Amino acid sequence: MIKPSVYIKDLSKHVGEEVILKGWLYNKRSSGKIKFLIMRDGSGYVQCVVVKNNVDDNVFEIADKITQESSFEVKGKVREEKRAIGGYELDVIDLKLISLSQNYPITPKEHGIEFLMDNRHLWVRSKKQVAILKIRHRIVKAIRDFFDSRGFVLFDPPIITPNACEGTSTLFEIDYFDLGKAYLTQSGQLYAESGAMALGKVYSFGPTFRAEKSKTRRHLTEFWMVEPEMAFYDLDDNMDLAEEFLEYIVQTVLEERREELKELERDTSKLEKVVRPFPRITYDEAVEILRKNGVDFQWGNDFGGGDETIISEQFDKPVMVHRYPAEVKAFYMKRDPQNPKLALAVDVLAPEGYGEIIGGSQREDDLETLIQRIKEHNLPQEYFEWYLDLRRYGSVPHSGFGLGLERTVSWICGLEHLREAIPFPRMIYRNTP
Ligand code: 4AD
Ligand code: MG
Repeated sequence: MIKPSVYIKDLSKHVGEEVILKGWLYNKRSSGKIKFLIMRDGSGYVQCVVVKNNVDDNVFEIADKITQESSFEVKGKVREEKRAIGGYELDVIDLKLISLSQNYPITPKEHGIEFLMDNRHLWVRSKKQVAILKIRHRIVKAIRDFFDSRGFVLFDPPIITPNACEGTSTLFEIDYFDLGKAYLTQSGQLYAESGAMALGKVYSFGPTFRAEKSKTRRHLTEFWMVEPEMAFYDLDDNMDLAEEFLEYIVQTVLEERREELKELERDTSKLEKVVRPFPRITYDEAVEILRKNGVDFQWGNDFGGGDETIISEQFDKPVMVHRYPAEVKAFYMKRDPQNPKLALAVDVLAPEGYGEIIGGSQREDDLETLIQRIKEHNLPQEYFEWYLDLRRYGSVPHSGFGLGLERTVSWICGLEHLREAIPFPRMIYRNTP
């Protein structure tokens, strides 16, 4: 048998038993004739205690020469030890070195961020990164569980597309054989709309791409987005769903990833507050907030990162800002019948200065109006004929939104930068390793 007999996270079920663990050396301490080896196996951490007089000489030799991140196998007896990392310890009977690691570059001392990013393939082994990646995984599962249990069908849009969705300025272009230019998708939304007309309620969940020239802590060029799209939902229904969705994600992570949040020293009292109802304010009210806070803000502009921070700092829950000037929003958004200068759009801004995590809207469902919008945005109508068909054949009011996964991970984990919220971040100045 090559695979371990037990994983570290399950040690509580094996107290008093002999087990075989396999993993890597996280850290090592010595105290005379005792060596303390901290093993990590991905599932957790455990201190393995090697006592010179209790083991063969060659076992003690291995304990002596083993280095950080060497892989090894350990046989030992499990003992409860409240003060130890993970709550259990292993009294070592036998050790086998699998592969000696030499000069592991990431040592316990401080390293600069560029060095860590260059070594991202190794950096993911460190405790904080492991905690973040486990929380990311739990968020992804919460997202799927939420929609799967509410009658939504997963609907996967293509990644190679012939047209823009969120404006032409951030498209990644590729050469597509004899068919000429194609683009990496910025959003699966337009395709999800066709799914909603077929299946009622759908969601897409996958990587999306933006050739963002902005070098900020909130922008990646490749990020994951989940996009629900619902037939017969108006903007209010859409906001109700977004609110329930965010509450569910945050509360699930609080329940299921306490240990990891603690490892990240996250102030969870801030997350406990993320329960419905969330404040809902109009764009106009958000502009008022900015002006009261001394920002010389011009009505009609979009909010910048700094503006979003000021607005969200007024609340201790996510805030939903709705009804934006149509001019700053995408072509597909429906106008407010009460005021056609406004789009039936909603952005959800996370608390603690994390900015926009959700963007959504009610969609334009009238054929002629949508054709007009495509013209106004100088988009090539021939590429949107299929999309217009959704308005030709049984058009209905419908809505949806997109949640950025990395921004959500970053907020829930309390990270400073999106680059730690994804295994291998892609940014304007980085596409390696
Ligand atoms: O607001 P956005 O651009 O909306 C859309 O793409 C719509 N088509 C979604 C929909 O209605 N189905 O993007 C949605 C979210 C943002 O709120 C943000 O969380 C994230 O995607 N996002 C980014 N995350 C990381 N890096 C970037 N460059 C991002 N751009 C958007
Ligand atoms: Mg947006």
